[in-house]
Amino acid sequence: MIALLYYLVALTGFATALCAPVTGCSIKWGTETVTGTASATGVCRYTVKYGSAARWATATSPASQTGVSATAIPPSCPQISSVLLATTTSEDCLYMTIYAPTSASSLPVFAFFPGGSNIMGGIASPGIDASAIAKAGNMVVAVIQTRLGVLGYLPPAVASTSSDPNMGVTDAVLALSTIQSKISAVGGSATKVTIGGQSSGASMVRALMGTPAAKGLFRQMILQSDPLNYGLQSLKIMSTLQSTYYAQSAFAGCSDLACFRKVSAADIITAQTNLGNVVIDPSNGIPWAPFLRPSYGAATIPNEPTNSLYYNTGALAISPSSVPLLITNVKDEAATSVSQIFGSKIGAASNAVYYSALNSLIGGTRANQIVYSASLTDYQVPTTGSGDQFRETLSHLVTDFVWRCPARTLAGKYAAAGGKVYVGEFRQGVTYPLNSGVDLCVGKVCHMDDVYPTFDTSPSPSANTTTFENGIIAAWAKFIAGSAPSSTWSAFSSGSGVSGTGVKSLGGDGLVGSCPTEYWGSKVEWDFQMF
Ligand SMILES: *[C@@H]1O[C@H](CO)[C@@H](O)[C@H](O)[C@H]1NC(C)=O
Repeated sequence: MIALLYYLVALTGFATALCAPVTGCSIKWGTETVTGTASATGVCRYTVKYGSAARWATATSPASQTGVSATAIPPSCPQISSVLLATTTSEDCLYMTIYAPTSASSLPVFAFFPGGSNIMGGIASPGIDASAIAKAGNMVVAVIQTRLGVLGYLPPAVASTSSDPNMGVTDAVLALSTIQSKISAVGGSATKVTIGGQSSGASMVRALMGTPAAKGLFRQMILQSDPLNYGLQSLKIMSTLQSTYYAQSAFAGCSDLACFRKVSAADIITAQTNLGNVVIDPSNGIPWAPFLRPSYGAATIPNEPTNSLYYNTGALAISPSSVPLLITNVKDEAATSVSQIFGSKIGAASNAVYYSALNSLIGGTRANQIVYSASLTDYQVPTTGSGDQFRETLSHLVTDFVWRCPARTLAGKYAAAGGKVYVGEFRQGVTYPLNSGVDLCVGKVCHMDDVYPTFDTSPSPSANTTTFENGIIAAWAKFIAGSAPSSTWSAFSSGSGVSGTGVKSLGGDGLVGSCPTEYWGSKVEWDFQMF
């Protein structure tokens, strides 16, 4: 009798979760009632906590949602103050904010990881409000926060996670497992999950390609502006960063974990900024950004996924032939970072000056090849002229080297392994707050200028922008629903090469950039091949 009652209750609960239209933004999240907020016509927004963890420990599911404000945008993970931080911070930051149309059932799910170089950003970052795309795309969108920086990727040597320092990635796995078990509560389908991200959020998706525990938790992937040149870091690099970081005065006298855990989050972040100022070493695989990354060679990520994509897709945790992939870039990815390093216009430069700049950015071996040996004029700074040639050339070079060209090469490899892959290039964007006032971004599509278009959140869109954004949302929604992004967007093929053939132009002038053949990855190697 008791068993039968239990069975009936369970069955009723199941039917309710699956079929009942969501009314008043109240749902059953597991056994608890969670009441969200109507964030736009026909869309409910719910913030839920998916993980709890002591500092540097692996997260586990929280016992309950008690104390969580489902209607609020949650605190961000600890980070420096920047335009990406629009809320308070807390180490208790393992939240996702879910946007779901009312009366949803069995809808596709878009699980999105925001960007910020692994050290900044989160659910509250500008433009990451998914109410419009959940509605227009008729899908459930979950924006997921994971631990950042030192708190996500660099535990002290005495922590048990030091041998497998990927707390940020295991956070993501826990979030995706939570989606598997609970997303039907808001009308999402656990079998129709696409994971996506922008910038370091896209790198998270790439890390998950190499994470055995993530296998089966999603069916498709979207990488927007993933800095593919940078593979994940080796444990050797992690340990170099670790010894430099924990030698700082904030940790003086600490030898046990309890002591390291008493250091304030503010001091942890200050020391992290200091680390970035001293440790960057492009000749030895510690890049300008992001200098803190997931580590490979540990149980969570046995093989480096970028390297696996290039040399041996069989070493990935997923099988390309069963996981379609969408990869996009923006036209001028590097103009923001180049202008951060070189603050104002620089005209012509001698080879010696150019070499010295490249040496500090990507190390002497490759600087030497680019300036003196590889005999390709595309990336040569003119030796005469008084325009902005130096920064323009550098921006072109870094865009191609870090983003555009590895995207095409790796997309070709994915296709060769039987994967369905679509490649696009944003030729139009909307200036992201990080880029407003950046002189080098005027007339360009800079890194992150795809965020507003992806979420249809431009602060004051023109008719042209609205048309453009609607096209992007329609394409993303079609892909997330399981088809081609549009009838005019063909899959990339292993024979497409890097010239731009097979790359879909998104907005603007209708063109796509070209990459040189037999250059990046052969004459000049990528970080993921070297370190
Ligand atoms: C929209 O604006 C972009 C510049 O951002 C321009 O290149 C494009 O041609 C415009 N599209 C239309 C349809 O006017």
